[in-house]
Amino acid sequence: MGAAIVLLASPASARDLDVAIGKAVFDRLWVQAPASTKSADGLGPLFAARACASCHASSGGRTTFRLSRDDPATHPGLVIRLGDAAGRPDPTYGAQLQPEGLGKAPGEGRASVSFTAATKGAKARPMWSVTDWGYGAPEQRTRASPRVAPSLAGVGLLARVPEAAILAREDPGDRDGDGVSGRAARLENGELGRFGWKASEPTIEAQAASAFLLDLGLSTTARPDPAGDCTEAEPQCLDAPHGAEPGKPEVAPELMAGLFAFVDRRPAPPSASASAKGEKLFAGVGCSACHAPSLPLSGGGEARAFTDLLLHDMGPDLDDGMGEGAAKSAEWRTAPLWGLSRALAQGSGLMHDGRADDVRGAISWHGGEAVGARKRFGALSPADGQALLDYVNGL
Ligand code: HEC
Ligand code: HEC
Repeated sequence: MGAAIVLLASPASARDLDVAIGKAVFDRLWVQAPASTKSADGLGPLFAARACASCHASSGGRTTFRLSRDDPATHPGLVIRLGDAAGRPDPTYGAQLQPEGLGKAPGEGRASVSFTAATKGAKARPMWSVTDWGYGAPEQRTRASPRVAPSLAGVGLLARVPEAAILAREDPGDRDGDGVSGRAARLENGELGRFGWKASEPTIEAQAASAFLLDLGLSTTARPDPAGDCTEAEPQCLDAPHGAEPGKPEVAPELMAGLFAFVDRRPAPPSASASAKGEKLFAGVGCSACHAPSLPLSGGGEARAFTDLLLHDMGPDLDDGMGEGAAKSAEWRTAPLWGLSRALAQGSGLMHDGRADDVRGAISWHGGEAVGARKRFGALSPADGQALLDYVNGL
């Protein structure tokens, strides 16, 4: 790692030094191997972006992607996961579409979206696909599951919510009869998933290692394959030069430690100003059955994140046909609503694929377990409806 990083940061402690290194790693534009700067090469050969910061803008913000405005084929910060209903990756393209390729390895394809025709009962719904497949047709059962890059503000707190607090809110059989069940994302290895739109990653470290593998094509100790998401069906990619010295990951453990320290310390969004009326409506309509205003932290304190970190069946309009980790294709992790005002201010689209322009639009896509809340919202007087929207807009 460059000595310049260390000098510029003038750290107050070893921990601050880690964070300073981590910021540099987060912002670093990785380059093709072999390069003269050994510590910054190894990108790809297939990749979606050159830096963490390309998608999580301004050192950890949400992407600005909005479906009604931006072309999904060209916008960084929207990724396409690939897999079938059971979450099995595509045999040729792997677990994610990498639109960019280096050297002789062509990119894998481009995200594309069309809309179903709107009818009286149903809105036009986005249908996602991939065009210009670089390595032939994918498996027929493979589906494209789009995801916008979320803000990383406060993720360190979400990591500190005790498992017991998450499990206490589960209600898989809907024993209380409120129409909202919700279940924890128990992963195959027994860990609890809590990160990503489908809660498929248990820890920030695991999410970062997956990002290096899938988004940047870089190996880490946790995910040691230097060819990233390349498969046997992509020999141009497997044969390309890699950044790793034999037996070593492309991203050194010290850099990963710094990156973790940096991401873990992204400050939580500032608390919204209190509105007794808004809070009451939010709870009364049933938004808080999933968007829990507060979760306790181990060691004390709370995360005012407006999520229960559970998976909920959100109905057919949000079902993209692909399962992942513990989540079925219609299940999504309750999106944390803290920091929503920032996302709206920068024009980001809401929901996992950026399809909603505003909070009213986001609510209108809530189906499945959230049907009751959506209907109760629709039945509010115009003044109360606006008060609820004002409250959520201000989070
Ligand atoms: C190509 C765009 C892209 C790049 C590059 C990228 N990310 Fe992400 N990141 C995403 C998307 C999209 C998600 C949501 C993933 C999902 O739902 O599965 C995400 C999710 C996350 C999360 C979980 C947030 C939450 O609230 O659950 C963390 C942490 C994260 N990324 C860290 C990183 C780090 C660290 C890097 C660099 C090593 C990185 N990301 C690079 C797009 C990107
Ligand atoms: C059954 C659980 C549930 C209920 C009830 C619920 N939500 Fe959600 N909400 C979710 C899930 C899950 C998502 C993420 C879905 C997706 O992106 O596909 C979400 C996403 C959102 C988003 C978009 C957040 C973002 O970052 O893009 C907003 C805004 C929102 N909900 C507001 C509300 C409001 C307001 C209410 C009450 C009228 C409500 N929700 C009721 C589960 C719920």
